Amino acid sequence: MTDLDIKNAVEAFEKLLREQGDRVDFIKSEGGFTDFSIKEKIRIGVCGGDGIGPFITKASADVLKYVLRDEVAAGKVEFLDIQGLTLENRLKHMKPIPDDVLEQLKTCDVILKGPTTTPQAGSGMPNIESANVAMRKALDLFANVRPVRIPDEGIDWTFFRENTEGAYAVGSKGVNVNDDLAVDFVVTTTEGTERIARLAYEYARNNHKDRVSIISKANVIKTTDGKFLNLCRKVSEDYPEITTDEWYIDILTAKLLDPARRRDFKVLVLPNLYGDIITDEAAQMQGGVGTAGSANIGRKYAMFEAIHGSAPRMVEEGRAKYADPCSMLRACVMLLNHIGRNDKGAALERALDICMFEEKKCVITGRPDGATIDEFAAYVMSKLD
Ligand code: IPM
Ligand code: MG
Repeated sequence: MTDLDIKNAVEAFEKLLREQGDRVDFIKSEGGFTDFSIKEKIRIGVCGGDGIGPFITKASADVLKYVLRDEVAAGKVEFLDIQGLTLENRLKHMKPIPDDVLEQLKTCDVILKGPTTTPQAGSGMPNIESANVAMRKALDLFANVRPVRIPDEGIDWTFFRENTEGAYAVGSKGVNVNDDLAVDFVVTTTEGTERIARLAYEYARNNHKDRVSIISKANVIKTTDGKFLNLCRKVSEDYPEITTDEWYIDILTAKLLDPARRRDFKVLVLPNLYGDIITDEAAQMQGGVGTAGSANIGRKYAMFEAIHGSAPRMVEEGRAKYADPCSMLRACVMLLNHIGRNDKGAALERALDICMFEEKKCVITGRPDGATIDEFAAYVMSKLD
């Protein structure tokens, strides 16, 4: 390694440190959560994304518009269709979110977003950051809330994944020091950890969940995971009625599969990357990644999406219209709850439970032997009246 390699790497690292320092200052300066009960008009932005995204997003937005039709008619809720969050447009502007799209997003209170395709390192495509990750950062959506329920087995988990830090904070800004050495960075901040821990514990308290599990790999990733664990422990002291336990991510991955233990987990708070991975496992247990919704919550904005990707292969094979919209519809439930329309959220959740778990008259298989997205959406709407 040459002195120049080291000098360049140190310069790159210095830039990252300054950016992260600015981010900490921004978090400290941020106001409180939007109070939807006093808002005269709520604006819901809808962006379709890539692959199957536009198909499942349109059907889900149709259901949402149906649920909110009276409030739309009364001018209390409005929908804004946002075009341009597509891979083609991102490549054209060489930005994860083109400026005009970001401007439109910022005029909304909440956003319903279809999955977007992320160019992978080494794919030959430019190294553009994932649109998801960029949106979470640009709108400071610090909490990724992912519920997974398997009623027959008594499983009712809510994952609070930290959404703007950890391995993702500077995930696209690692340093290739030279041809032989590459370094990525993991970021944990006091403010960033305290706010996700507080949200998880508040959720547990308000929803009568008696256990919060703090997940980390603090035995190995001692500095950043150690800080995450210690700060979560500190927050837990304000919630003495809630049992707190601690798990390393590897054994948690096993325990979620253990029929004797898994229903003990209720609320789980965890760093970004572990949350990403474990919520796919949990969603698969519930019936597939197509079945779980995902809320990205910030103080000012919130964005609701499927937990899965854009499945470009389904589009290539002509199967887009058979894609599963349930993950997006679950996201709509969370959106309704977030804007304080809890009765409507509960009604949509109930309709989804009937369609997905109980009656199952219309089943999505992802192929022509199953229902289309529109047929399934109509089935859900028929259970809302
Ligand atoms: C998710 C997705 C994203 C993530 C991808 C698309 C960048 O897997 O929302 O879980 O890793 O966060
Ligand atoms: Mg994921």
